[in-house]
Amino acid sequence: ATRVLTGITTSGTPHLGNYAGAIRPAIAASRRPGVESFYFLADYHALIKVQDPARVQRSTLEIAASWLACGLEPDKVWFYRQSDIPEIPELTWLLTCVAGKGLLNRAHAYKAAVDRNREAGEDDDAGVSAGLFMYPVLMAADILMFKAHSVPVGRDQIQHIEMARDFGARFNHLYGDHFVLPEAAIEENVATLPGLDGRKMSKSYDNTIPLFAPRAELKKLIFSIVTDSRAPGEPKDTEGSALFQLHQAFSTPEQSQAFAKAFADGIGWGEAKQALFEQIDAEVAPMREKYEALMAKPIEIEAILREGAIKARRIATPLLAELRHAVGLRDLR
Ligand code: TYM
Repeated sequence: ATRVLTGITTSGTPHLGNYAGAIRPAIAASRRPGVESFYFLADYHALIKVQDPARVQRSTLEIAASWLACGLEPDKVWFYRQSDIPEIPELTWLLTCVAGKGLLNRAHAYKAAVDRNREAGEDDDAGVSAGLFMYPVLMAADILMFKAHSVPVGRDQIQHIEMARDFGARFNHLYGDHFVLPEAAIEENVATLPGLDGRKMSKSYDNTIPLFAPRAELKKLIFSIVTDSRAPGEPKDTEGSALFQLHQAFSTPEQSQAFAKAFADGIGWGEAKQALFEQIDAEVAPMREKYEALMAKPIEIEAILREGAIKARRIATPLLAELRHAVGLRDLR
């Protein structure tokens, strides 16, 4: 079987970028014959950015309910919370000992923090936690633990998956063939979904459209997307238009072509925004209802996650025993 795995960090409310970049392709993959799917809530990763326990808990519930509302079938896949699998931090340490520090120095999130510090005239590592630095190793443990072949993600995660390959290959080279080397699975036209201001949609830019915003809020947010100042009747550029790219992520190629033609024909921005709103709402509305029902049943979600953890540990526990033996630690087998 081909194994597909992906995770979402529980640091906020899931947005359209998470949906188009990860959740939607992951659920589609899980329905293909011969695929085993592993979808999880990256709550250890959340602690790197969020030190507000209530927010981590709230986000965990929201992201779990989102996966389920989007059609994840918990009895057919492995669906779990990262922190319920103690083997993951244990594997993180084994990988830490083979991970090149130089490679971690080049990780985008860490480098961006260093660059910001340099610009501000601070020490390189001012305010940078070791957790931020180690982020890619924890993520490699997530992926290698379950021998995933394919990891559906947005473009921002490609480098992390390449690092997981690097650490896995190095471990295999030293200790024998234990890990599958994963590949990123990227959907070209949604690889980087833009947010309200045209930059990448991201919790850190505060430019997100929540996946399950109530209908009125969704509409309001879509009407706040930045556009240029061209009047109705003037031709509009699709190139570099956040509005157009968002539409493309929620439509068939034919629909997207028709939208491009409307741009060339000078559709007014108000009309274009209304069309985008209708396009997104049509896809999201049925799932939004399920989401709202699920959010009212946190105990059921908790039970699903506990079951998922038991199932995932049936794979993680024996693998860890094998790895401990391989590196020369006390043999638990
Ligand atoms: P996170 O929580 O930032 O994002 C979750 C997923 O959503 C994708 N994504 C986007 N895709 C397209 N356009 C956007 N604007 C956009 N914003 C976010 C991300 O690429 C990601 O696929 N480190 C990961 C979580 C993680 C993980 C893993 C993923 C932990 N362990 C193992 C895969 C495998 C993260 O913080 O994603």
